Amino acid sequence: MQIINTIKTLVTTIKHWKQLGLSIAFVPTMGNLHQGHLKLITQGKDQADKVVVSIFVNPTQFSLGEDFSSYPRTEQQDSELLKIHNVDLLFLPSVNEIYKPKARTIISVTELSNLHCGASRVGHFNGVATIVCKLFNLVQPDIALFGEKDYQQLAIIRAMIEDLNIPVQIKSVSTVRETDGLAMSSRNSYLTKEQRAIAPILYQTLRQAYHQIITKQLGFEQIEQQKQKVLNDVGFIVDYFSICHANTLLAAKQEDDEVVILAAAKLGKTRLIDNIHFKINNLKVDSLD
Ligand code: PAF
Repeated sequence: MQIINTIKTLVTTIKHWKQLGLSIAFVPTMGNLHQGHLKLITQGKDQADKVVVSIFVNPTQFSLGEDFSSYPRTEQQDSELLKIHNVDLLFLPSVNEIYKPKARTIISVTELSNLHCGASRVGHFNGVATIVCKLFNLVQPDIALFGEKDYQQLAIIRAMIEDLNIPVQIKSVSTVRETDGLAMSSRNSYLTKEQRAIAPILYQTLRQAYHQIITKQLGFEQIEQQKQKVLNDVGFIVDYFSICHANTLLAAKQEDDEVVILAAAKLGKTRLIDNIHFKINNLKVDSLD
């Protein structure tokens, strides 16, 4: 596995691969890799000649007071894992390599970026869209793989590549869960033992809401309120629990067919997100294991 820290060497290597006619799958990450990332890599390997992974804890997607400085950085361990998984290239740039002091451009995917996570994490999705766009320009992948756990992020990246005609195929990969249902996330390592025991209730609550929707037991707003209360009662501080149209991410209407239930809640200082995406009428469930 090649480990590259500079844009110059990355660009030369990618150019060489392109000249050889090799296809590239790209998995952008912020490191602290877990099974969720490894699933993206494995699927990338099946679909392209070369797999590139980036590890970059992107400062512009953290708001003031968030966990940028404490975000788990485990580069040595990550790079061993990537070698074992036969990744071809690890791009591991510094912040100065990626962001020049003079940089003027920010990518902002309007509408989608201010909802849900974007409402409480102001500027977060501009940071995500900008770094993903920059990385796409550098790596020039044929396909890029993202986890469905970050459903809103995925929707924003899909909108960005469509709006800006970026020639990358986006592949979404279903969420990898612990045996008790908790979605894998680098931030799970922040949880105390007590919080870790409560954390799976987020997904359990999403599943209960899913069953209430498909059996048409209650209206969407009643389900949302009920589930927020359940989560707050067990110790979460709920940011949102929203039944949304799968594409617009706006509040779903009772007649909508394809919906996503999006949830974000804090346990102590740890913010957890999760979702379930499904079609109501043919019961095609995309995100359920
Ligand atoms: O999902 C993540 O890990 C990050 O938001 C991403 C896509 C690597 C951009 O920094």
